[in-house]
Amino acid sequence: MQRIPAGFLPPVAMDVGSDTPMYQQLSDWFRRAISSGQLRPGQRVPSTRSLASELGISRIPVLGAYEQLQSEGFLETFTGAGTCVARAIPSDMTIERKRQIRVEPVASAGGSRRTSQRAKLLRQPEPTWLANMGAFRVGVPALDAFPSALWSRLVSRHARHLSPETMGYGDPMGHLPLREAIAEYLGAARAVRCDASQVLITTGSQQGLQICAHVLLDAGERVWMEDPGYPGAHQALRTAGAELVPVPVDAEGIDVAHGARVGADARAVYISPSHQFPLGMAMSASRRMQLLRWAASHDAWIIEDDYDSEYRFGSPPLSSLQGTDTNDRVIYLGTFSKVMFPALRLGYLVVPKDLVADFHAGRDAIDTFSSMLYQSVMTEFIRDGHFARHIRSMRTLYMEKRAAVHDAIRRYIGDRLEVIGTEAGMQLAGYLPPGVDDVAVSRKAATVGVSVRPLTPCYLASPKRAGLILGYGGVSPEQIDEGVRKLSQCL
Ligand SMILES: Cc1ncc(COP(=O)(O)O)c(C=O)c1O
Repeated sequence: MQRIPAGFLPPVAMDVGSDTPMYQQLSDWFRRAISSGQLRPGQRVPSTRSLASELGISRIPVLGAYEQLQSEGFLETFTGAGTCVARAIPSDMTIERKRQIRVEPVASAGGSRRTSQRAKLLRQPEPTWLANMGAFRVGVPALDAFPSALWSRLVSRHARHLSPETMGYGDPMGHLPLREAIAEYLGAARAVRCDASQVLITTGSQQGLQICAHVLLDAGERVWMEDPGYPGAHQALRTAGAELVPVPVDAEGIDVAHGARVGADARAVYISPSHQFPLGMAMSASRRMQLLRWAASHDAWIIEDDYDSEYRFGSPPLSSLQGTDTNDRVIYLGTFSKVMFPALRLGYLVVPKDLVADFHAGRDAIDTFSSMLYQSVMTEFIRDGHFARHIRSMRTLYMEKRAAVHDAIRRYIGDRLEVIGTEAGMQLAGYLPPGVDDVAVSRKAATVGVSVRPLTPCYLASPKRAGLILGYGGVSPEQIDEGVRKLSQCL
């Protein structure tokens, strides 16, 4: 007999006051559920005894309904195996079910029914660069080089030894041993000054940003945003109703003097000082000091997004801004999406000591806490040295890949793409010649299986400079050559 796991029985609606007898209401309900595909051929249905007790009725109408459905060929009974939906029911019903659950693509225009103004602000232009999994998809690390076998061994070991403490509700700040491991790592690798009590585990930077927005800002308050900047940060800050103040970036990072002119009343500043997203420069020491001074004198917060600073090639890693701040103005934002893998959904915030209680409450209000299983596996991965080893080997790999992308751009594209930014991270950006439409290029590239992200949607204000962002973390050397060659034909 084809084995179909016991599925969920959709709620059975019975009307006790109706003139229609109970057994008939029940058999009608089963017929409808079977013909609409909610119950599948071969699927087990509850025994008459348990269905009667679940519905709070006598067993007699249930027995009557089952008997009738069997005689009509909707149900069949096997000794010892219980009752199930007849396997001979035509399979086109399954087709009907498939049709019902087909996932529609998200329409970028949205529907006409009323939703919040905020929801409209959150809508993004259709991301054509996500339409394929081809070369240069931004933000994807070298998943084929991740030690998956080791990781799955750790996951299964931890899953086998789940204790009541790890299965219940945990601390909104996160699993303490993981927070300790992160505090140690950040102190050594990023010169972040903190202890475990200041580390809050998140489901990634996106959530970290949202928590910052909700804890630090009231609706309508202003935030400086690097322009061009990270669209994910635009989204997260907008969910709290923040007003974004575009502040241009130049070769030294965010233009603090400009920010002070146009956004003197701002409550916070979002920056990616180690490797600006998307242009890739590092913020200069003098700009860092200028920003720290401005924030201290204007009672403003700085949200430092340090998303991929583990990977710097050619020059020693830069210290975090948090480590040089003497006024406790910086909230440091980190993620395991780049150094591990994005689907892990683990990241962290480091918050000033006097803000811990508010951040604790903010995290609790959003989704309580992150999966304990992955928090404990991640702790062991760090403690046993696998994390440091993985970062070291990825640094060499990404350096090689970056050089290969540079080389291929020089050979196939030449000066039609002016590569900018420092030698760091898993992506590089380049400007296109004036007059070229980067969104159109990205759309065209998607049709030949190349995923490049246009620069102009990362801007809030004009003038926008057209360009492309190429992620190289997840591509192989062959894909790099082939991808750049195909891209050159789209320019
Ligand atoms: C600037 C920036 N910050 C953060 C992230 C990581 O986001 P998350 O941790 O939510 O995966 C990314 C990913 O692409 C990014 O580009």
